[in-house]
Amino acid sequence: MYILAIESSCDETSVSVIKDGCEDVSTVILSQMNTHANYGGVVPEIASRMHVENITLVIDEALKKANMKMEDIDAIAVTYGPGLIGSLLVGLMAAKTLAFIYGKPLIPVHHIAGHIYANNLVKKLEFPLIALVVSGGHTELVYMKENYSFEKLGSTLDDAVGEAYDKVARVIGVPYPGGPIVDKLAFEGKDTYDLPLPLNDDSYNFSFSGLKSAVINLVHNEKQRGNEIIKENMAASFQNRVVQILVKKTMKALKDNNVKNLIVAGGVAANKGLRTALTEACNKANINLIIPEMKYCTDNAAMIGAAGYYAYKRGDIAGLDLNAKAVVSLK
Ligand code: KG4
Ligand code: ZN
Repeated sequence: MYILAIESSCDETSVSVIKDGCEDVSTVILSQMNTHANYGGVVPEIASRMHVENITLVIDEALKKANMKMEDIDAIAVTYGPGLIGSLLVGLMAAKTLAFIYGKPLIPVHHIAGHIYANNLVKKLEFPLIALVVSGGHTELVYMKENYSFEKLGSTLDDAVGEAYDKVARVIGVPYPGGPIVDKLAFEGKDTYDLPLPLNDDSYNFSFSGLKSAVINLVHNEKQRGNEIIKENMAASFQNRVVQILVKKTMKALKDNNVKNLIVAGGVAANKGLRTALTEACNKANINLIIPEMKYCTDNAAMIGAAGYYAYKRGDIAGLDLNAKAVVSLK
């Protein structure tokens, strides 16, 4: 089964052709990052306008790369939410139009289901599993008993982990998007700053706004004293707390639920500190760990095509009245 998948929930216009939910036949990702970097973050209105300009070109490119025509495609999968509403609508309208014109089924895919199923492109998922979803908009621990069954164990009570990275980056003077640079700086510095371990309790929930505020306060206090903070050391101290709490709660979720498979998803899955710490902890506890390749960690349509295959098998087919949702939980 060949699925043409479309992802446009934030600032990447991406289209893929995916075979049987596990084989990436072709993927095209057009990132708007350089444009938004001028503003220090994603500007929603600009993002949706750029999606409009590029969506048909990206669809054509993905088909050309796959050496296929629309007639060879069996279904269309599309991210319907969560995300920026104007951005989502562009991908959704394109998907609906193709489904209508070519008479193909339309498969609605939740963005987080997509991030989780990016792992299916690396290795077929084995169940039961725990998914740690860490991105710019989400921080969640999800239990999956079988394909396309999602039970949320916990999530962030405030900032998503990627969001906290980007805000801390700004405060220590790192340009947008700061996450990857803070990660790099962390390996050049030492954990010298006294930062709290956030929401260090027995729940599966997370909280990153207190940790972020602690960084902001430290930076301001030092400035008032006429001192500069050492960026590398602040990055190392911040990253250590984040990684420590993510690893602790993830390992607890695995143990409490007697699960032996862990997958990591979302943009922050690219974080080297997190990858290293999880690999070590999973080796010790005999857990099978899958983390997608870097290119499948951040937003892409391949993951939507992979998830779409299992959504379709479950019977998720939408009508042309499918609407985009800025906020929607994973079911
Ligand atoms: O999944 P994603 O592409 O978009 C959302 O769906 O949110 O994630 C983007 C987020 C950004 O906040 C970015 O700073 C963060 O992932 N990120 C990282 C790293 N690479 C990307 N955060 C920490 N370390 C990284 N290496
Ligand atoms: Zn994402």
